[in-house]
Amino acid sequence: MARSVLVTGASRGIGLATVLELAAAGYDVVGTVRTSDGAGQVQRAASERRVRVRTVEMDVDDADSCAEGIARATSLTGGLWGLVNNAGFAQFGAVEDVSDDLVRRQLETNVVAPIRLARLVLPDMRAQGRGRIVNMSSVVGRLSTPLTGWYSASKHALEGVTDALRMEVEGDGVHVVLIEPGMFGTEIWAPTAEGSLPAPTSPRYAVAYARASAAARRSGRLPDPVRVARTVRLALDQPVPVARYVVGVDAIGGILAQRLLPTPLTDYVKSVAVGLRSLPLTGRSRP
Ligand SMILES: NC(=O)c1ccc[n+]([C@@H]2O[C@H](COP(=O)([O-])OP(=O)(O)OC[C@H]3O[C@@H](n4cnc5c(N)ncnc54)[C@H](OP(=O)(O)O)[C@@H]3O)[C@@H](O)[C@H]2O)c1
Repeated sequence: MARSVLVTGASRGIGLATVLELAAAGYDVVGTVRTSDGAGQVQRAASERRVRVRTVEMDVDDADSCAEGIARATSLTGGLWGLVNNAGFAQFGAVEDVSDDLVRRQLETNVVAPIRLARLVLPDMRAQGRGRIVNMSSVVGRLSTPLTGWYSASKHALEGVTDALRMEVEGDGVHVVLIEPGMFGTEIWAPTAEGSLPAPTSPRYAVAYARASAAARRSGRLPDPVRVARTVRLALDQPVPVARYVVGVDAIGGILAQRLLPTPLTDYVKSVAVGLRSLPLTGRSRP
């Protein structure tokens, strides 16, 4: 019998690519969506790909919605073998510019919700003596970049709690995995591209925000998220998965540089890249 997997945030981007990839590989896939439009997007993509993906409605920020969604997915499938915690967003802005409310929302969606969902599926997985939980982190779960400090904080927190969970449930036959993608072409960049940013408290931030918006409008040139989806499939397919899967040359390069180079150098390169510091001699930041 096909293994059943629930993927959160399936309406688009990495989540949509993942449900299609898993369904094509023979998994019994349920994707979570927040709206009927989202469900329609999944159904259209699944029918184009000639695969079956069922959807359940779930707002991962809402505990009742999570419990109802897991119950519905469990009854649809007869029991979940896997959970892919993919739903998330990236709060852009200098650390001091992001309000407490936005910080709480970032941590709720990216940290509290994945663990709440893990808590809901673990009793059944433990009873079965098998199961898999895949948490979608990011390269910024391993390093921090200016102007995405709170997003980075959420992914660092997700990594910390996932490492603990992995050790806690391994004895029950449940494997817990982190995926660490670099930058991929999805709508995660849309709010920044559209200029939906916090008010800058410093003129230097204002310049950097304008530059980030311009860069986000070019995000269509970034690699296809199907590469992340294939890595999720690998993490589910492998009998004994590794703890971390890094996806993308930018992520591999960034993690290696952070580990091998002195911090003043990596700080400088990252600050120039976002327009907060100047290149030597020219006195100008990177164009
Ligand atoms: N793209 C990248 O470069 C990149 C790199 C590293 C890590 N990631 C991670 O990959 C994951 C997916 O991101 P993406 O790039 O595919 O972004 P995306 O295209 O913006 O898709 C985000 C998905 O998450 C869903 N979502 C957001 N908040 C939710 C909530 N409260 N409840 C339920 N669903 C929610 C969205 O649903 P709606 O359609 O209802 O909004 C959408 O399906 C995130 O965890 C992100 O941090 C992305």
